[in-house]
Amino acid sequence: MTYEISSWPEGEGAARAAELFTGAFGGDPAGVWAAPGRVNLIGEHLDYNGGPSVPIALPHATYAALSPREDDRVRIASAGADPELWTGALDDVRPGGDQPTWVSYALGAAWVLARAGHALRGVDAAIVSCVPASAGLSSSAAIECAVGLALVDVLGLPVGRRELVGVCQRAENEVVGAPTGSMDQSASLLAGAGRALVLDTLDGSTELVPFDLTGRGLSLLVIDTRASHALVDGQYAQRRATCERVAGREGVELLGQVADPYGLLDRLSDPVEFKRVRHVVTEIGRVNEFVALVRTGAYDRIGPLLDASHASLRDDYEVSCPELDVAVEAARGSGALGARMTGGGFGGSAIALVPAGLVGQVERAVGRAYAEHGWDEPRFIPAVAAESGRRVLR
Ligand code: GLA
Repeated sequence: MTYEISSWPEGEGAARAAELFTGAFGGDPAGVWAAPGRVNLIGEHLDYNGGPSVPIALPHATYAALSPREDDRVRIASAGADPELWTGALDDVRPGGDQPTWVSYALGAAWVLARAGHALRGVDAAIVSCVPASAGLSSSAAIECAVGLALVDVLGLPVGRRELVGVCQRAENEVVGAPTGSMDQSASLLAGAGRALVLDTLDGSTELVPFDLTGRGLSLLVIDTRASHALVDGQYAQRRATCERVAGREGVELLGQVADPYGLLDRLSDPVEFKRVRHVVTEIGRVNEFVALVRTGAYDRIGPLLDASHASLRDDYEVSCPELDVAVEAARGSGALGARMTGGGFGGSAIALVPAGLVGQVERAVGRAYAEHGWDEPRFIPAVAAESGRRVLR
């Protein structure tokens, strides 16, 4: 038996959010907005280093039903959250405020928008989601972006999508307090169906590149290890600080701006700094090769790049964990053409590139390996590149 995490069709997500809204506040919402989770194909821990990454949006999305209010009150409901209904003033949601973390995710963008001088008003909002939580699939960015889109739309704020990426990232950095890069919010707001987003944080460029494995008899299998993963526990911030320290010594802000990265590697004497920088430098090279192969549709040749990315994240960046390593090895051993951890690491999910006919076999092999270790059963998503955030109900 294997367990696949299904997504909701758009109409179902919209109906669930609207129903929660009506139950909590009475009446219909002004609209419902959706924003997806993501999975990163390659280019890990590069978005805060001035490097490229290549995420796709998942069909799994967060749905926010929302109406503006006449005053500055905020009422926000989320099934399963603690508490399920939070009420306060707009100003209460701020860095260091005593709102629950889920409210920081949901309404942090309002604080950022207000600070930028936009005219905010109170809102009633209801949130539902089928993005698996704590799976490294950006359930948090999906909340930020769904509510962010809703606020901008319903209040008529002059904020474009690219700007909204930055707003939602700042919400996560400053209101939630997680020092992440912009990949998750970029994927949620700028990705495209059947496309991979090539995001380069060195120059801020983004490009949508066709990414359709099904036409080639291949499948992208996401493996949720269900191992715990916390970006705020200090490990992520430590990796980031090490990279910024080295960049600073080189007279630049980001490692991606170093003119001669291999020369830098030759000069680094601290073994930890050396490994962290080597991951960044080699991963940038792998992304470039990956994108070149994807552009020509040579999907059957990207597997070794996924494998090498995993080894680098495990050995040099040291952000993997036994559950991720076992998932990757079991997938490869049962027919995957390549596999790697994806997202921040320390748990969360892995991806495997699998010939379509072998998906069941790979799922069973990973499940068996987990059972042998006595771990919780892993969960799976055969992923396709889905569309980015949008209004789904008027
Ligand atoms: C988390 C962060 C992203 C990115 C990845 C690692 O998902 O939210 O900004 O840094 O880790 O690539």
